[in-house]
Amino acid sequence: MSDDLPLGRLEDLPADYVDALRALNLVPLWPSLRAVLPPARPRPATQATHWSYQALRPLLLRAGELTPIEKAERRVLVLANPGHGLENMKASPAMYLGMQLLLPGEWAPSHRHTPNAVRMVVEGEGAWTTVDGEKCPMSRGDLILTPTGLWHEHGHDGSAPVVWLDVLDLPLVYYMEASYHVNGTRQAQRSERGDRAYTRGGMVPTPVFGRAGKRYPMLRYPWAEARAALLALAEDQPALESVQITYVNPETGEDAENILGFHALMLRPGQTLTLPARSPAQVFHLIEGSVDVQVATDTPKAFTLAEADTCCAPGYTPVTLRNRAAQAPAFVFVADESPLHRKLGVYETR
Ligand SMILES: [Fe+2]
Repeated sequence: MSDDLPLGRLEDLPADYVDALRALNLVPLWPSLRAVLPPARPRPATQATHWSYQALRPLLLRAGELTPIEKAERRVLVLANPGHGLENMKASPAMYLGMQLLLPGEWAPSHRHTPNAVRMVVEGEGAWTTVDGEKCPMSRGDLILTPTGLWHEHGHDGSAPVVWLDVLDLPLVYYMEASYHVNGTRQAQRSERGDRAYTRGGMVPTPVFGRAGKRYPMLRYPWAEARAALLALAEDQPALESVQITYVNPETGEDAENILGFHALMLRPGQTLTLPARSPAQVFHLIEGSVDVQVATDTPKAFTLAEADTCCAPGYTPVTLRNRAAQAPAFVFVADESPLHRKLGVYETR
């Protein structure tokens, strides 16, 4: 059967027949068949989109003047993809992105919810997130997990505004009609922490009565460690093209969270790296340096990422990253939908 053969349209059918179908909650498939099963590859609604941090930052700070934290709970500007409709608050089919502002002395109260979240710290010092009783300090580039069902709250003991990028699988969990939250009271903070216990690769804590067995043993991934790991990898393997690490559960080696994947990528000085077309959508957030991004959609898009800028690319699309600096590496935080695609059996590379 040729894909070129036009299929029957809804308007080809008699109105009384269409009305009779509707009255019984029935729909003919063939007028919509090509839309839901397009030939050869999907037709993503996700548009390659760039959010400049310098452009959004004044508006985020103004939100701090306009809306007290008590009226916001979470003071966030959502990075919304126009291809999905801004009001739907999606960066991609499964990813939500938000820039969150916390001012000195503020407290974003404790809650838990079904969507999984991570925080990528963008600017400021002195803030912390308490997750499941563990106080996680927040510094630029740190990745902090707040997985499904775990209590979390944010506080700020510093003297300047703190901003972080929230990445959630909210669009997917909402689509599944499984999204809800529960508010709680201020958490008692445990003295124990997990980030240093798992910092050294290949070594995990082993209490004599057996392994810890927590689903989320590591909640904070310090940027200083990720950056050092990338620099060591680049130095030790000079021929390695993609200098990248993935944030994993150190007890199992599996993805740190269930639905979205998180990675840190280093571009060597002057390096151009083309990522192959893969099925999941991706988000790039520049931690350090200056990077040109080309997204090879049907109408190709190109952006220059300055530090703290964020962009997204639809799946099934090659993306080329170029480090604009000839003398210094660039560091990019990458979030994608790869764990979801792998679990569903639809992951592919072209
Ligand atoms: Fe939350």
